[in-house]
Amino acid sequence: MRTIDWNDESNSIVMIDQTMLPEEFKIIECKTLASLCEAIISMRIRGAPALGVAGGYGMALAARLSSAKDVNSMLKDMEIAAKTIKATRPTAVNLAWGVDRILHAVNDAYDLKGIKAVALSEAKKMADEDVAKNKKIGEHGATLLEDGDTVLTHCNAGRMACVDWGTALGVIRSAVEDGKQIQVIACETRPLNQGSRITAWELMQDNIPVTLIADSMAGHLMRKGVINKVIVGADRITGDVVFNKIGTYTHSVLAKEHEIPFYVAAPLSTFDLEGWEETVDIELRNGDELRFFNGKPIAPKDVNVYNPAFDATPMENITAVITEKGIYYPPFLLEELFVD
Ligand code: MRU
Repeated sequence: MRTIDWNDESNSIVMIDQTMLPEEFKIIECKTLASLCEAIISMRIRGAPALGVAGGYGMALAARLSSAKDVNSMLKDMEIAAKTIKATRPTAVNLAWGVDRILHAVNDAYDLKGIKAVALSEAKKMADEDVAKNKKIGEHGATLLEDGDTVLTHCNAGRMACVDWGTALGVIRSAVEDGKQIQVIACETRPLNQGSRITAWELMQDNIPVTLIADSMAGHLMRKGVINKVIVGADRITGDVVFNKIGTYTHSVLAKEHEIPFYVAAPLSTFDLEGWEETVDIELRNGDELRFFNGKPIAPKDVNVYNPAFDATPMENITAVITEKGIYYPPFLLEELFVD
């Protein structure tokens, strides 16, 4: 099943609850905007491209649930829903991109039924496009991987971070599909462990060899010459940096020191044409994620905690950015990628 989908029978959003992985493969349904927002905040659905589609489906749900009796009132309801959804997680630009794409699409509709229909068909189109884009990213990125490579990845930029296939893991999947033997080193990605819980699980499902390490072990393995390449996803790419899961910057510095190619795989919807490092809000998460593990204290319960979800990696640490349009080697102007 896709990570996130629309159920036509119940008119609801269905998704894999990623907080339950790998213990339980649980499907949940969001029938209200509040339940969708809760799912995003709690990270039942997560990963920048998947969040983009969640934003799109959320807007389709908002149109469907609106009790407005005229077009203007419905559009107002949708504007309010847009603000609510966008506020759930600020860093991944794809969420706002997905929401805005639906707001833009419904401008062409002229009655209430039309708005509902356009919002849903556009959201479904976004979901299909996400899979197609990831396949393209995979196709381009696979040319950078060689048979026998050992690739380090951080967090989860796999099918669970997207509708299907994945960005960074999509590149690995495509290389494997081409017949290359690839070993993956998955960093556990503290504190929410998307690497150990999701990436390791996803790759094992596909029989792709994966070894789990703690985040702090990456430098040791690079120095020993075990890692040939690093591939990560992205939550937002601005003119100067790539925002990705906390810990990514550290890997990039280590990769540079050890002359290991460092690749970022992301769709164009992850690019923020107007953004710069200074303009982006980095999500700060609850300190209890570090004070507790599985409900058990692992630190003094009132210790001061700093828990940013993302960091910024400067373009000069990045060997290439892999998009659905091709491979781009910094320095480049973001606008270049959007020229047909
Ligand atoms: O906080 P998350 O899990 O939503 O973070 C997103 C990520 O998984 C990563 O940062 C990822 O590399 C980019 S999304 C493909």
